[in-house]
Amino acid sequence: MAENTQIVPSGDFGNMIGNTAELLESAKPFLELMMQNECALRELETKLNVLNDEFSTVYNYNPIESIKTRVKDPVSIVEKMNRKGIAPTIENIENSLNDIAGVRVICSFPEDIYAIADILTMQDDITLIKRKDYIANPKPNGYRSLHLIVGIPIFLSTGKKIMKAEVQFRTIAMDFWASLDHKLKYKHNVRNPAEISAKLKACADAIYDLDYRMQDIRNQIERESR
Ligand code: GTP
Ligand code: MG
Repeated sequence: MAENTQIVPSGDFGNMIGNTAELLESAKPFLELMMQNECALRELETKLNVLNDEFSTVYNYNPIESIKTRVKDPVSIVEKMNRKGIAPTIENIENSLNDIAGVRVICSFPEDIYAIADILTMQDDITLIKRKDYIANPKPNGYRSLHLIVGIPIFLSTGKKIMKAEVQFRTIAMDFWASLDHKLKYKHNVRNPAEISAKLKACADAIYDLDYRMQDIRNQIERESR
């Protein structure tokens, strides 16, 4: 090997590697927080799956259609902290955001939503921090879902840590509606936003009516088939 061959790069490239190592080091607490939120989601998902399996075995019926989990992405975290006017330090993020860990539980019928939400929050390791019933009290645009903020422990090498998570419960039809409404929120140059909003609101109300009518039929079938 020639004497002047450099194995460790120097100059700009060397600095870049050095900076990357520093950057990775400084990102560690953030990555740790994301990992802890992933763990909280796994715990919650397991609890919900256990309930669904139990209902399926004991009552021959699946109250939960699907469960989706997501950890809020870093850009959305920083944007939300900026909106709140709070410096995005790890401590501030942990204290001021309730929805870094998010679970969406889709059920067929409204009464299953309330049943599963109640059973989940009655478990002795879960604490209910906040409950917003947008099914009974929809948002002005027609949005309906049951939102819970819960505390759930995860067990690390250093001991127990209580994590917060947002659990959104909605019916299949409410979820269908919310995804179209979400589309409207992210399109900024629609020509008739007021007209579209009014149509969406009418659909939200029709969906509410339909969900409860379907539930009544389901219950009548249950009653009359015994
Ligand atoms: P934020 O998370 O800052 O909105 O806090 P908040 O206390 O206002 O929470 P809220 O319970 O109103 O909403 C939390 C989440 O519910 C949002 O991030 C969305 O996922 C969902 N959500 C709330 N309102 C709407 C809505 O009008 N349309 C749709 N599609 N989703 C909504
Ligand atoms: Mg909001």
